[in-house]
Amino acid sequence: MKWWQRSAVYHVYVRSFRDSNGDGIGDLPGLASELDYLSDLDVDALWLSPIHPSPNDDFGYDVADYEAVHPEYGSLDDLLGLAEALHERGKRLLLDLVPSHTSSEHAWFQESRSARTARTRDWYVWRDPAPGGGPPNNWQSVFGGSAWELDDATGQYYLHSYLVTQPDLNWRNPEVVDAMHGVMRYWLDRGIDGFRVDAVQQLMKDPELRSNPPNAAYRLMPGEPGYDARRAQELRHCHFHEDIWDLVRGMRRLVDAYEHDPVLIAEVAIFEPERFARLFGDGSDSFHLGIYFPLTHAKGLAEMRAATESLYRALPSGAWPSLVHGNHDVPRVVSRMRGDTDGDDALAKAAAAALLLPRGTPIVYYGEELGMPSVRIPDARLVDPVAARNRRRGDPESPGGHGRDPSRTPMHWTGAANAGFTTGDPWLPIGDATRNVEAQRGDDGSVWSWYALLLALRHERTALRSGRYVALESSPDVWLFDRIAARDELRVAINLTRDPTIAPLGAGHVVAGTHRAPGDPVEAATSLAPLEVVIVAS
Ligand code: BGC
Repeated sequence: MKWWQRSAVYHVYVRSFRDSNGDGIGDLPGLASELDYLSDLDVDALWLSPIHPSPNDDFGYDVADYEAVHPEYGSLDDLLGLAEALHERGKRLLLDLVPSHTSSEHAWFQESRSARTARTRDWYVWRDPAPGGGPPNNWQSVFGGSAWELDDATGQYYLHSYLVTQPDLNWRNPEVVDAMHGVMRYWLDRGIDGFRVDAVQQLMKDPELRSNPPNAAYRLMPGEPGYDARRAQELRHCHFHEDIWDLVRGMRRLVDAYEHDPVLIAEVAIFEPERFARLFGDGSDSFHLGIYFPLTHAKGLAEMRAATESLYRALPSGAWPSLVHGNHDVPRVVSRMRGDTDGDDALAKAAAAALLLPRGTPIVYYGEELGMPSVRIPDARLVDPVAARNRRRGDPESPGGHGRDPSRTPMHWTGAANAGFTTGDPWLPIGDATRNVEAQRGDDGSVWSWYALLLALRHERTALRSGRYVALESSPDVWLFDRIAARDELRVAINLTRDPTIAPLGAGHVVAGTHRAPGDPVEAATSLAPLEVVIVAS
């Protein structure tokens, strides 16, 4: 097995993890001071949200320099020192690569916009206004409004699939491919172990830039509350053009040339399993892993199971699944499933089992190991551009239009002031820090202890690391499956409901459980408490 198949990855939203200098923003020295914590939790690799210089209009997903570290997070030495310290512990470090767009402050764009004849003009997507004026086509930005912005100085529009200050790179220009390959090599040469590749679907659009057709299934009319001009279109031409596959294979060839086996994890806003599966090519020539949106958007445990199994069915042979439930773009897992911001430790533990026990590389979002819920944020403190978009359109699906800030709030280290995250003013509110590391580490019954137990179990049991996944017949209320390796076999039952139920576990003994002690016998038909998880060996 490759390291990225047997690893559990921990996703650090650096800005909110640990602040070392009291400016209210998490940073690399702060993160480096918590390596013992990460070892105790037993994760194998870190993926860092973007740490490059950025005006932070989209909190780092607007990169102004790919080959440097934003001073608010530390220095290049801090980053390379972190990589070295992780390597000494047998762990890996992944960065977030944002290839589809830069910040408008990036030198490439500054030069590009300076004149129609500029050297990097064609590194971005520039077009004349439509005949009679206006944007070249009807494409809409993900963050609201037209995806085109008129640049008065040169009289042409540029494409921005996200914010006006995030111009899209033109990946049809081989110079752009070379430049981004250069960025990848820059980090791989310095020992970085791979990348989570952002917004892959945006890399290739229709070469003729045709307008999208209307979405026949969309019911709202312009002017109605919640109307979304982007959802009113079928997104046929503005992303995910077939020409993307050569690019992906090119990236894979690049990383394959390195001996330390760097990994590429695709982030792609695609819900259809068959389209998602194409990211893996023939199973060995494209992405190694991918973030599967049906999992990050599932609103309940039964949906998690259905999404997990649809992923297994879709992947080409040779491809390896990764399981991701939470991240910086979606509500915290318990909040998404409950539809509120209350904590729910039993639900958090069942969700942890759904993430860490089926087959695949799990990616744990920081704070999920505490069962952190999303944090309610007063309107005046919202900073995410998605919150602004939601408020503009009065989106009924985002109560209060709170966008993504609620799942990006500071880590809760202690119950003391500012949850021990910072000595200054935190960049986002702390929320209720009752669920904190200090309190939970000393408590065998806590969500943290359950995560640590399951992560340790993944190291101990080949069945969990590499075993086949075999779904077993049971009532729809119970997720019952086996993990089967050559010389190791475990059975897992998760009660997906808040009612007691019976599961046909088969006789055996408990290996770990939310409600039972290791070694306890289990009977052929076992009654499970609400949301109970039990792992059994025969
Ligand atoms: C990232 C988002 C970001 C967007 C634009 C993504 O999918 O995860 O946080 O806003 O790409 O870069």
